[in-house]
Amino acid sequence: MRKKYICGNWKMNKTPDEALVFAKEINEKNLDDVDILIAAPFVDLDILKKNLNKNIKVAAQNVSEYSDGAYTGEISTTMLKSMGINDVIIGHSERRDIYFEKDYIVNNKVKHATEEGFDVILCVGESLSTRENNEHFEFVKNQILEGLDDVEELEQVTIAYEPIWAIGTGNTCSAEDAEKMCEHIRDILRKTYGDIADKIRILYGGSVKPNNAAEILSKDDIDGVLVGGASLNANDFIKIINYKENL
Ligand code: PGA
Repeated sequence: MRKKYICGNWKMNKTPDEALVFAKEINEKNLDDVDILIAAPFVDLDILKKNLNKNIKVAAQNVSEYSDGAYTGEISTTMLKSMGINDVIIGHSERRDIYFEKDYIVNNKVKHATEEGFDVILCVGESLSTRENNEHFEFVKNQILEGLDDVEELEQVTIAYEPIWAIGTGNTCSAEDAEKMCEHIRDILRKTYGDIADKIRILYGGSVKPNNAAEILSKDDIDGVLVGGASLNANDFIKIINYKENL
C-alpha cells in the first residue's frame, strides 16, 4: 500500500522570516497520517529544516547535475546534504519552459541526485496544444523514459504528473483524466522496470486546492499531490493534508 504524499512547491515565494511563520502555523496543527514535503527556495531551507516538525520533509526545487566547479548560480547535492536536505524536485515545467531544461539535462540531474542518495520528484506533463492534438500519452511516456534513462535507484523516485495547462491557471485536470494519466504512467513503469512500478508513487499537480484535493486523492493510482499556490497558505495546505475530512 502506497502512503499518500502531500507535497508543497513554494516556487519563488517566501523570505526566511515568512517561512518561519509558516513553520510555526503548521507545527501547531494535528496532521493526518500522510507523508508531507515542502519544496522551498534555497534561502528558506535552513530555517525550515530547523523549525518544521521532523515528520515534514524539506526539499529543494532544483539541483545541479555537476558535483562542483565553475557553475555560477548553481547549487550542488553536497551543499544540500550539508544542510540535511535529501529531497529535490527535478524537471518542473517552469524549469523546462523558462530555463530550457531539456530531457537530457533533467535525466542527468535525476541520475546525479539519485546516485548521491537523494529522493527525487521527477515532474512530467504536457502543454495544452499537445493535449488538444491527443498526443499527451505519448508525450508523457517519452518524458518518463528519457528522464529515467539509466537511473538505477528507482525506489528513490516519485513521479509528479503536472499538465502545464493546469498549473497556476485554476483549470484542474478532472480527477478522472488525472487518474487515466497516472494509470498510464504506472503502466509504462511496469512494462519498463517491472514490479517496482507498484512502489513508485505518482502524484498529480496543477491547481490542487482544499476543495478538490479529496476527489483527486481518492483515486487509486494517484498517490499524492504537488501543490503550488495553495501550499503558500498554511491553512489551505493543512486542509489538503487533512483531505480525508472532506471525503
Ligand atoms: P499550482 O502549481 O498548484 O499553483 O497550479 C502546481 C505546481 O506547479 O507544482
